[in-house]
Amino acid sequence: MSATVLGPSSTAVTEAVGGLPAFPYRKTMELSVAQAALTVALLSSLLLSAEDFNDASSLRRKSPVAGLCTQLIEPSGFPCSEHKTQTKDGFILGLQRVSSSSGNLRKQRGSPVLLIHGLFMAGDAWFLDTTNQSLGFILADRGFDVWVGNVRGTRWCHGHVSLSEKDREFWDWSWQEYALYDLREMIRYVYTVTNSRLFVIGHSQGTIMSLAAFTQPDIVEMVGAAALLCPITYLNHITARLALRLVKMHFDQVILALGIHELNFKSDWGTRIMDMMCDRRVDCDDMLTSITGKNCCFNSSRIDFYLEYEPHPSSAKNLNHLFQMIREGTFAMYDYGRWKNMKRYGQLKPPKFDLSQIPSSLPLWMGYGGNDALADITDLQHTLKELQSKPDLLYLENYGHLDFLLSTRSKEDVYDRILTFFNSLGTVRSY
Ligand SMILES: *[C@@H]1O[C@H](CO)[C@@H](O)[C@H](O)[C@H]1NC(C)=O
Ligand SMILES: *[C@@H]1O[C@H](CO)[C@@H](O)[C@H](O)[C@H]1NC(C)=O
Repeated sequence: MSATVLGPSSTAVTEAVGGLPAFPYRKTMELSVAQAALTVALLSSLLLSAEDFNDASSLRRKSPVAGLCTQLIEPSGFPCSEHKTQTKDGFILGLQRVSSSSGNLRKQRGSPVLLIHGLFMAGDAWFLDTTNQSLGFILADRGFDVWVGNVRGTRWCHGHVSLSEKDREFWDWSWQEYALYDLREMIRYVYTVTNSRLFVIGHSQGTIMSLAAFTQPDIVEMVGAAALLCPITYLNHITARLALRLVKMHFDQVILALGIHELNFKSDWGTRIMDMMCDRRVDCDDMLTSITGKNCCFNSSRIDFYLEYEPHPSSAKNLNHLFQMIREGTFAMYDYGRWKNMKRYGQLKPPKFDLSQIPSSLPLWMGYGGNDALADITDLQHTLKELQSKPDLLYLENYGHLDFLLSTRSKEDVYDRILTFFNSLGTVRSY
């Protein structure tokens, strides 16, 4: 991985993706119609040529053969078991249960904790650094009964009862289904197996899902408390340059119009885009900055290792839903347009997720960063205003979006605080 710092990353990314000449960022905000059309045309040809390779063998080429336990968790000396459970709409989710590497703790399981990863990630996200740095390992070694969640479409899940990944319908969902089907089912599964309420920890999109799910009484009654890293509900103040540019280009609508439903950056066309955005010309670190904000404590010499696991697939409809939130400033269900909304929801606008429905008795902890370009502070204040409870807050001025997961210091800076919060509640079993 080249450590050379190149010019403004967004400029270089534009150059890489669209073949546009390099110009300063402010000017690109006034992207002319012609330039936008050119970019769209180039992107389309890139995506369309990808269709040639879009057969199952190439899509699965980089898929791990073994499960997450065998690949990443057991090699570090942690006992791990694979679980499967099926959502109401037929997706077969994979979950992993991890216990302490120390023999003494193995027999007596502590409170269950469910870990919910972010967008284009999966359960591996909690185990990517050393056992002393990664939250999943740290929780297990503190005696927690660690459950690792994975949403539909990620490589640790097991498809659908009747649909194939080649079917358009397989990808016909957004984070709304992650929240109301996948998270509901994962929480129900852990609750049933452990016979206990559980703690939930989410990062990024995992917090969108969690907060949406907690507005549902039948879900939140199974949850003892939650710790949210980079909490997000409203998204209309994000500052991530590349994300804003893609929103402005209507990238989400363009790819849907082109018939692209699966967003898989490990497919052949996806790999090509990743290589273009993330090669020696543009330091990958720089690209991550333009998506997530400046990460203070991220170890960029580990990026090659992270890329063995990330990114995981998601759906174009999910990106579209997230971009709707950026455009419309809402925390609401997917917007199908007025008439389809009427048919589906019985109203012209999609129903909002009402944060005031989250019971004030649910203990909440939130960690947020001053350099986070996705979980913006103004948007977080909006969230806090609508919640009935006052969450415990940890503000880290230097932290960006990925630091909360991958900072080399996140144990001291963040995870110890979460452990203190959970420990202050006693065991959830006593609720
Ligand atoms: C983790 O921390 C413990 C105690 O501080 C230390 O003995 C051990 O070597 C560390 N392990 C790694 C992989 O850094
Ligand atoms: C950063 O990553 C490299 C490569 O894995 C590793 O050797 C180094 O110890 C890491 N640094 C820190 C501070 O964790």
